[in-house]
Amino acid sequence: MKLTVIKCGGAVDPRPICEDVARLGTPCVVVHGGAPQIARLAAEMGVAQRTLLSPAGVRSRYTDLAMLDVLTLAMTGRAKPVIVAALVASGVRAIGLTGLDAGLLRAVRKGPRRTVVDGRTVIVRDDHSGRVVEVEDRVLRDLLDAGFTPVLSPPAAGEDGGPLNVDADRAAAAVAVALGADRLVLLTAAPGVLSDAADENSVLVRCELPREGPVPYAATGGMHRKLIAAREALLGGVGQVLIADGRTVRPLTEISGTPVEVRP
Ligand SMILES: Nc1ncnc2c1ncn2[C@@H]1O[C@H](COP(=O)(O)OP(=O)(O)OP(=O)(O)O)[C@@H](O)[C@H]1O
Ligand SMILES: [Mg+2]
Repeated sequence: MKLTVIKCGGAVDPRPICEDVARLGTPCVVVHGGAPQIARLAAEMGVAQRTLLSPAGVRSRYTDLAMLDVLTLAMTGRAKPVIVAALVASGVRAIGLTGLDAGLLRAVRKGPRRTVVDGRTVIVRDDHSGRVVEVEDRVLRDLLDAGFTPVLSPPAAGEDGGPLNVDADRAAAAVAVALGADRLVLLTAAPGVLSDAADENSVLVRCELPREGPVPYAATGGMHRKLIAAREALLGGVGQVLIADGRTVRPLTEISGTPVEVRP
């Protein structure tokens, strides 16, 4: 039966999405992010949110140990329970997991990296983030076969078994590839991929990406990573990838957004 991997952005209300998962009636794996939940909890806990800026100009979260703690708490304690509860309320047998559970997402830690602080390049060594290299897909298949809907989020498990921050979009792509999913739907708080990030009316009806190298239309970090994730999924054999509006009444059964393709 058709398998859909859905990535829920932290800024969208998950309830209409969860109701629509129930309406779909086909097997789904839900992966979620939680940037706003992390930002709120960091403020409550007095942990500074910092950004790494690569010399190429790409921004990413600076995950020192205090931020890793905040991220884990925000994902498992704030973002995930809302999704799991909404799915269960809609009659979906949802089970909340992180990449640590059963070693579902295995990641390799990024090495010391250059970052730009106040115009100066410095080396960062205490960033606990990584890249997903392996998905324990048998566990997900067993859960799906038993009628459960896995709800999965960062952190992933590093080589030493400890938590590592990973990008949720790329984690969703890795899950979709590992499961041979028919479809990956990246639901976010935008109408789709915009040709001009400042103009909500500039939604692309389709977005074609080169097979390698820089991706177009990437005004800020979040969408840049989504396009990278979409390309990884397509090159990994996922049938269809959409970057779609997660704020509509029926975000899955009446999808509104941008189908992504890679050039032949
Ligand atoms: N070209 C673009 N088209 C559409 N959105 C864009 C574009 N460039 C930048 N964006 C921004 O990217 C955001 C989506 O990425 P973001 O990482 O903020 O959210 P998310 O991935 O859905 O949530 P989370 O990071 O919590 O998982 C949009 O809300 C929009 O503000
Ligand atoms: Mg994001």
